[in-house]
Amino acid sequence: MATRNIVKFGDDILRKKSREVTNFDDKLWVLLDDMYETMQTAGGVGLAAPQVGILKRVVVIDVGEGKIELVNPVITYAKGKQREVEGCLSCPDTWGYVERPAKVKVTAQNRYGKEVKFEGTELLARAFCHEIDHLNGIIFTDLADEMVDKKEKN
Ligand code: CO
Repeated sequence: MATRNIVKFGDDILRKKSREVTNFDDKLWVLLDDMYETMQTAGGVGLAAPQVGILKRVVVIDVGEGKIELVNPVITYAKGKQREVEGCLSCPDTWGYVERPAKVKVTAQNRYGKEVKFEGTELLARAFCHEIDHLNGIIFTDLADEMVDKKEKN
């Protein structure tokens, strides 16, 4: 495994739509492993492939409940609302309040192409939404209704 450079806000690649993954091969597995190591080294809870310069629909998440790998993820259900402070490894020292669903369900594929389903509330629901947004060129600052000087924890 190896860490990769994280693309920062302002780079055009973060605004592009990522492509569906069709090959569940060792190249994908190396990408997933590298993304997880990069996210952990940077102290994040989620990372999407465009953030390491790869326009593929691949996400890793770990909110402290274990590693989640999502390939071609789709949000299939969203209910309720929550509003919390978010940050992004591509936007250092930038924090803002974003309204997200309180609960989401996600269907994706794992690294072998098998269908997997997840559901999340609180931070995990936010992470699913934030990272899947990255696959569509959306950054949390597009959605934030109030920026804050530094991270606040409620
Ligand atoms: Co982000």
